[in-house]
Amino acid sequence: MSERINIGNNAFILPEPQTILGTMLDGRPNFMAMAWVTRVNYDPCIMAMAVNKKHASHRAILETGQYSINLPSVDMVAETDYAGLASGNRTDKSGLFEVHFGELENAPLIRACPLAMEFRLKEQFHMTNDTLFIGELVAAWTEERFLTDGHVDVEKARPFTLTMPDNRYWAVGVQVGRAWHEGKALRKSPTD
Ligand SMILES: Cc1cc2nc3c(=O)[nH]c(=O)nc-3n(C[C@H](O)[C@H](O)[C@H](O)COP(=O)(O)O)c2cc1C
Repeated sequence: MSERINIGNNAFILPEPQTILGTMLDGRPNFMAMAWVTRVNYDPCIMAMAVNKKHASHRAILETGQYSINLPSVDMVAETDYAGLASGNRTDKSGLFEVHFGELENAPLIRACPLAMEFRLKEQFHMTNDTLFIGELVAAWTEERFLTDGHVDVEKARPFTLTMPDNRYWAVGVQVGRAWHEGKALRKSPTD
């Protein structure tokens, strides 16, 4: 058997979903690359995300209590990365993407993203560097061309992912199975 190695603080869940956080900063849209995000409740749809306290987006969320989470496609890698390099504290990023608004006035939705979701802030937990923001989905916006059977289709939306700490972007690869299905072959009885 191979020796197991402790990699300490270099631990990440691989890969991470790559999104763009949208906020209204001093009345203008601001965008931030964001990978530390996940759904944490089924109904209603609640998502959690970690945002560093120094980021302009952090202040914008606290001031408005609203934000958007946008899923970019592989042809938006450069714009997404730029939103993760430049800070709204020094740079006006409002022209980076065309936006539209849904139900909320402080959740700018990126029109070019196959999926754009608007949230109302529910809870916040402050940690050492980051705040865990927990928000409830108000509405999710897409287009017919990204759907299959009414659901956003990965092959049509073409999202991308991030690996850290090597800091590389990856397209989503080949399908390797069906969830809640492949494990059935290992059942010892029908009720197992
Ligand atoms: C690929 C990538 C992913 C990132 N993910 C996060 C994240 O999940 N949370 C976070 O606080 N910062 C994250 N960042 C850093 C911010 O996007 C970056 O510091 C940005 O400039 C902050 O912008 P703002 O000051 O306008 O809010 C990420 C950066 C990159 C390049």
